[in-house]
Amino acid sequence: MQKDDILRLLMESKTGFVSGEELAAKLGISRTMVWKHIKALRGSGFGIEAVPSQGYRITMVPDVLRKSEVEQGLRTKLIGKEIHFYPEVASTNTLAMEMASRGAAEGTVVIAETQTGGKGRLGRKWLSPRGNLYLSVVLRPNIPTHKAPLLTLMGAVAAASAIRKHLELPAGIKWPNDIFLSGKKAGGLLTEMSAEPDRVKHIVLGIGVDVNMDLKELPAEIRPISTTLSAEAGEKIDRSPLVRRILTELDRWYQVFLKNEADVLREWERLNITLGNRVAVSGGGRTLEGLAQGIDSEGRLILELDDDSLRQVAAGDVTLLKGR
Ligand code: BTN
Repeated sequence: MQKDDILRLLMESKTGFVSGEELAAKLGISRTMVWKHIKALRGSGFGIEAVPSQGYRITMVPDVLRKSEVEQGLRTKLIGKEIHFYPEVASTNTLAMEMASRGAAEGTVVIAETQTGGKGRLGRKWLSPRGNLYLSVVLRPNIPTHKAPLLTLMGAVAAASAIRKHLELPAGIKWPNDIFLSGKKAGGLLTEMSAEPDRVKHIVLGIGVDVNMDLKELPAEIRPISTTLSAEAGEKIDRSPLVRRILTELDRWYQVFLKNEADVLREWERLNITLGNRVAVSGGGRTLEGLAQGIDSEGRLILELDDDSLRQVAAGDVTLLKGR
């Protein structure tokens, strides 16, 4: 699209300026057409100044995700070879599952600015105001179904690593797959699967990260236990390069997973904030308390109960308790 090409040329310019004449020549269009596109870009929130004898220059970029910006410089082997952007969907996971069952290629990514029916773990809702990240990835690993939970751990490793590398924030993982910063939740993952009796057909890995939203958008009861990347970084975050970094880390960690899943578990252990703590795990109407000792080869949490017996937990909500 010519509008995207103009944006790209302006963003790539070393001085910041590109003349109308140059834009027109590079795109093979008239200067009047260039002017019309500049007006349209201003209409969608860009600040673009026009300086006589120098040209146009971007002064402000609106907080919207652009496909062209995410794709620009994305050097992944598999993840994000095809990216679908939507201003609004019910749930990127639901849409990606539909695409997967219609044959979408492995690595296909669905991203939305907002979700009207965002889904969280354990049947909960995932509030999805604008300014955050909501993305889902189609995967087609040749693995037995009981190994599927490991892919959620892989996704958590990729998301936490991306936040650490891109923003230098000390993101950690609370079992099984909550992204934590300063003791508060900043994101989560939800995996959905279609399977034959014992093999995975396809998996959708959904990632939600709270980036720029105002925490007041959340209900009062979860506000004190939630945070956003911008609150932690102390500034607004440009989401496109962050998406690129998340896709890059997913690409990398998915390949590691396919070669040797133990390497993913080792990295999960390095980034986790659960093990070694006394925890309460609730789910299915009951709560177990004990020492979080480790995770097994299928990603289940190993709890040492107060009578010294060991218990493996496959799903639940973990609260870190003080004292051992
Ligand atoms: C959790 O409960 O912690 C998991 C939240 C997962 C939310 C993401 S947002 C993108 C994708 N689409 C959804 O409907 N859910 C996941």
